[in-house]
Amino acid sequence: MKSRKIGVFDSGIGGVTVLKEIIKILPNEDYIYYSDSTNNPYGDKDDETIINICDKITKKLIDKNCKAIVIACNTASAKASHYLRNKYLQIPIIAIEPACKMIYDYAYDEPTLIMATKGTIESEKFQLLYKKYNNQKTYLLPCAGLADSIEKENSKAVKVYLKEHVKPYKGKVKNVVLGCTHYPLIKKEIREILGDVKFFNGESNLAKHLKEVLRKNNLLDDNTGNIQFIDSQGLEDKEKRFFSIIKR
Ligand code: DGL
Repeated sequence: MKSRKIGVFDSGIGGVTVLKEIIKILPNEDYIYYSDSTNNPYGDKDDETIINICDKITKKLIDKNCKAIVIACNTASAKASHYLRNKYLQIPIIAIEPACKMIYDYAYDEPTLIMATKGTIESEKFQLLYKKYNNQKTYLLPCAGLADSIEKENSKAVKVYLKEHVKPYKGKVKNVVLGCTHYPLIKKEIREILGDVKFFNGESNLAKHLKEVLRKNNLLDDNTGNIQFIDSQGLEDKEKRFFSIIKR
């Protein structure tokens, strides 16, 4: 019998930062990771386009025997999670979101830079979250093009971007919310620009929440911890990069 799996998707490599946290607490589940190179980047696409893309991926993952779906992309979560949850009622859909609540709970008095894609920051879902946990000490930075440079491993473009758009916050902020799943991959580069800031992201809370949802729905399995990687363009270099980050 085919094992039941957890489907995880992102526009590309970024969601690996989510999957890594999930594996720490659910090592014996089987996974399918779907990297959507064909439609990357999501960050500047309109709502309808993102919803259609995510709908197709979710259907594909369910057809491949996924018992739960993790949207490992803040932009896709912000724009499509509501639609997907209403459409696929039979299956838990867990969605990442920027760690605004963590700042409110653990760093209320400290100035914080919130980095996310333009799509996430402009979304209704993010604006509601932001207003709910606003401590009046946050700077919002829509990082147009940054996730794309990370995806393409264009380290020069990443450095130029950080110097131009992030450096002005040096000395002004103590914390950074990494509100895009690609950004944990450039923590070192952000620290080089901003100094010793603290990072906040939603990955580990999502992992705990996923475990709890699976437990409540009687969906926990004791499988082999197998991870299948699918790239929508079949890019082998992406697969290699994916597994090298997973093992790190
Ligand atoms: N990794 C995605 C996120 O968390 C976005 C990257 C993209 O723009 O495609 O928002």
